[in-house]
Amino acid sequence: QRDGFDHYMLKEIHEQPAALDRAIQGRITDDNDVRLEGFPAGEFADVGAVHLIACGTSYHAALYAQQLLANRDIPAQVFSAGEYTTTPAPVRDDTLVVAVTQSGETADTLSSLDIAAERGARTLAVTNVIGSTAARTADDALFIRAGPEIGVAATKTFSSQVAVLALLAERIAEDVSGTVHSDREALLAALERLPADVQDTLQRSPVESLATELRGREEQFFIGRGYGYPVALESALKFKEITYEHAEGFAAGELKHGPLALVTSDTSVFAVFTGRHDEKTLKNVEEVRARGAPVVAIAAESDHEVAEAADEFLPIPDTHPVAAGLLANVQLQLVSYRVADLLGRSIDKPRNLAKSVTVE
Ligand code: F6R
Repeated sequence: QRDGFDHYMLKEIHEQPAALDRAIQGRITDDNDVRLEGFPAGEFADVGAVHLIACGTSYHAALYAQQLLANRDIPAQVFSAGEYTTTPAPVRDDTLVVAVTQSGETADTLSSLDIAAERGARTLAVTNVIGSTAARTADDALFIRAGPEIGVAATKTFSSQVAVLALLAERIAEDVSGTVHSDREALLAALERLPADVQDTLQRSPVESLATELRGREEQFFIGRGYGYPVALESALKFKEITYEHAEGFAAGELKHGPLALVTSDTSVFAVFTGRHDEKTLKNVEEVRARGAPVVAIAAESDHEVAEAADEFLPIPDTHPVAAGLLANVQLQLVSYRVADLLGRSIDKPRNLAKSVTVE
């Protein structure tokens, strides 16, 4: 069942090229049109604002989507579902509420969908599970087609969520503006190349010696900006979930506003570079290195400046920033996996956690 992999998580990390292939299959035409089944062109023309609601890893995919939409001039906000149920954000007639949920069964996310519907918003579930409660209760559903995910820690479903949300953002932006953004061609080309780029990244998985080195450190920080920000949060979540070690993710710009006080030579700092605003993140790398922290940078293989600024370098193929974030995330999934494995953790079923959280 695990196809020779020691854990489902590792198998699912390696399934990402195939999952991403399915996520985009038939949804990108030769002339760079985005076709989402059930959503003909013009379907989202009336959308004035988007609310994205999710938990955990899906929340990080929603953060990614918020930036994808913002970069296409569509106002979008992200909410943690558990907070949305306590303080629902006001919706208008033209608000589209998107629930991002792999399982389609997360209690807080389902309650949020109910609240949004009661308030008159149009609802859409972006989910992996056909026939799930979210798919059935939302006005519409869009499937990420990642295939079953057994490991409690979400891996391939995060990548597939982001790929599908990128297509959804393109569809919404085109419907609302009536035009195609100048970046569309480059983005779609990068998404089409992504399965091969992930394969390439998997083949350069971090060496055992890096994991051995990291294992003993007291604390791990993950930093990034732009699309690197949700990746930093997601990588920290994955690290803490399966290694049981303390990890925190930050927007790189937040470091100086407090977290820097914690940085010592015992803090591993993982810095995510996506090819946009990298010069600022490089300054953050200098700041933490000045406090003695060892830095692992994840950036395009051609980025010698970043490689030289860091103690360790995990390369990814050169690509569009949206895809670069996902590729960096793949590298960091492998880092978490390898450290957890060295520590002998229960990787597929971490303590205290369930695959789907059906209570609020
Ligand atoms: C982390 C993880 C969880 C889920 C969260 C939401 O690896 O798997 O944080 O992402 O419980 O689950 P879904 O997406 O099913 O709503």
